[in-house]
Amino acid sequence: MFILSSVFFWIGFLAVIPYLALVLYAAYACKEQNLKKKYNASWALVTGGSSGIGAAIVRKFASQGLNVVVAALENPLMDSFKVAIQEEFPERKFRFVGCDLSDSEGQSYLSAIEKATDDIPIQILCNNAGFITTGAFADTAFKRNMANYHTNVTAPLVLTHHFVNRMLDKGQRGLVTFTSSSAGFIPNPMSALYSSTKIFLTTFAASLAAENAEDGIDVLVVHPSPINSNFYDNAGKMSTLLSAQKMSSPPSVIADTICCNAGKVVVSDQGPTTVIMKIIMTKVLDWNVLTEVMKLGLRYSGDYKAMKVRREGKAA
Ligand SMILES: NC(=O)c1ccc[n+]([C@@H]2O[C@H](COP(=O)([O-])OP(=O)(O)OC[C@H]3O[C@@H](n4cnc5c(N)ncnc54)[C@H](OP(=O)(O)O)[C@@H]3O)[C@@H](O)[C@H]2O)c1
Repeated sequence: MFILSSVFFWIGFLAVIPYLALVLYAAYACKEQNLKKKYNASWALVTGGSSGIGAAIVRKFASQGLNVVVAALENPLMDSFKVAIQEEFPERKFRFVGCDLSDSEGQSYLSAIEKATDDIPIQILCNNAGFITTGAFADTAFKRNMANYHTNVTAPLVLTHHFVNRMLDKGQRGLVTFTSSSAGFIPNPMSALYSSTKIFLTTFAASLAAENAEDGIDVLVVHPSPINSNFYDNAGKMSTLLSAQKMSSPPSVIADTICCNAGKVVVSDQGPTTVIMKIIMTKVLDWNVLTEVMKLGLRYSGDYKAMKVRREGKAA
């Protein structure tokens, strides 16, 4: 028994070492790169660029000399960001596309984005916009679930297809990034759609990276540890999210991560929460184990209990 458990321990330990070595390489050995120079680029496009992580990416790119197209919902947040960013970087050019990325076909926002970018080379595309819907999948209006799905998954596919083809046609080097999430490492009852959309992005990005490596188009997918942004305000009052928010870092860490890791790694696990989750959830435990743990534990969660009370109230 002792020998068997030692064997399992060493197998587990050895499986973690290459992963940790890459995490340390990405976090400490990869120094900040100027993406304008690296890709000989003049323009980038950032979705969800009006707040949080997206706004931090826009600021970082502008500080590196890039001009930026911001695609986000047309609302007061966008209006105030327009004024702020132009005041901060008067020497840069910005274009703003107010659009709703939850459209199922993508035609409405793609034509608006095409119109705004037809005359400029977009060599850096950051698929960053996204949100979380909390609550049981069955209790959430299907339309809302699909709007979440299309924002998190369809829009990155539509835009990546469009801009990668443009780069390929023009023989340009470039970078495509995806803001995924460590939520995708585990089953996420009460936000089932969110984690599924995010792990889709990770798998898609890793495959795309191989397809376009020889064309000089780098792909980077980032799994942020908790980041302090409006994400949590828009997420409802789910207890696990409120705890995550308490450990959050500023959005600029993701912008820095992108500039350090672009072209160096494809999957960037940022921060200790993501790394610990990856090791325990994907390298030590199996999905069947995790699912059973979730099934047992969920009944004690306040969010789940509240959902049951609501359902019973509806049924009465
Ligand atoms: N914060 C975290 O801890 C964390 C962790 C892991 C992954 N992420 C991911 O990071 C990305 C950025 O989130 P954030 O933390 O920076 O939150 P955020 O401040 O809420 O930013 C999300 C951005 O996406 C935009 N957006 C949402 N729905 C949209 C739609 N239908 N059409 C167009 N734009 C839309 C938002 O616009 P409005 O502000 O106008 O709604 C906002 O600009 C998201 O994909 C999120 O899933 C966040």
